[in-house]
Amino acid sequence: MKKILVIGAAGQIGSELTVALRERYGGDHVVAAGRKTKPAEQLLHSGPFEWVDCLAAAPLARVVKKYRIDTIYHLAAILSAVAEADPGLAWNVNISGLYNVLEVAREHRCALFVPSSIGAFGASTPLDNTPQVTIQRPSTMYGVTKVAGELLCDYYHARFGLDTRGVRFPGIISHATLPGGGTTDYAVEIYYEAIRQKRYTCNLPAGTFLDMMYMPDAIKAAITLMEADPARLVHRNAFNITAMNFDPELIAASIRTHIPEFTMDYEVDPVKAKIAASWPNCMDDSAAREQWGWKPDYDLEAMTGDMLAALSKKLQPQE
Ligand code: SER
Repeated sequence: MKKILVIGAAGQIGSELTVALRERYGGDHVVAAGRKTKPAEQLLHSGPFEWVDCLAAAPLARVVKKYRIDTIYHLAAILSAVAEADPGLAWNVNISGLYNVLEVAREHRCALFVPSSIGAFGASTPLDNTPQVTIQRPSTMYGVTKVAGELLCDYYHARFGLDTRGVRFPGIISHATLPGGGTTDYAVEIYYEAIRQKRYTCNLPAGTFLDMMYMPDAIKAAITLMEADPARLVHRNAFNITAMNFDPELIAASIRTHIPEFTMDYEVDPVKAKIAASWPNCMDDSAAREQWGWKPDYDLEAMTGDMLAALSKKLQPQE
């Protein structure tokens, strides 16, 4: 039976992935690790929790040893907009932190999942139908750390036989935990504001198409890839995966099918707009489909229905 450690368990993806892993492998088999965010009750009470900072290698190694961990999901990272505001922090967490995790995984022979991102591409990449293997010259610090991270993970696989695997996540949309400082965050905020105010001011310009994915698909991808037959994996770090692509106008129109009075205007954030313009409009994820059976369940319409229903409940005024 697997013994899993999720680093960054209180974050947007971690908070839901940890719960899904516990449902699958048993609560005691999945250790949640966070650095500073107080974990939600469900996370605290469904299995072990440890305070772990990926920048501190020795305490991390102690946790891996204590629970006899054999698989690590390393989700602690600085997202694109925060990384542009503080490149040094992004380098530290996304590279030094990852290096520590790789070293601990090597020493304890753990399989390792590390997410990459659409941010690993740049303006010189073909932005339509972006191939699995293509030009990767990102112009953001986030992208620099993601490309370096992909290469490091491949290096540890080739050099030390470490079972490293990863996906290039698109923008992830969810209702349990907010994302922290990404360029694609607008596609989460828009649903909150649609419920709260029936209006939204968008910080990316109309016509900015980006790949996106609903959280249940992101969780399915991470778990399926880690369970995939290694003999079938030609690529490892990291697979393009996508579920849908849209621009702000299309997501607004999809919200209007449920809330006809919803309106949107624009106040473009030039930093985010520039980042988004350098990322793919739509990725080709056929390698993931062929090598480990990737297939999303949610399109924009299905996601919008689910998000609005979940947030209507969550944001209901308390009596
Ligand atoms: N959602 C991330 C960001 O916007 C992209 O991987 O930074």
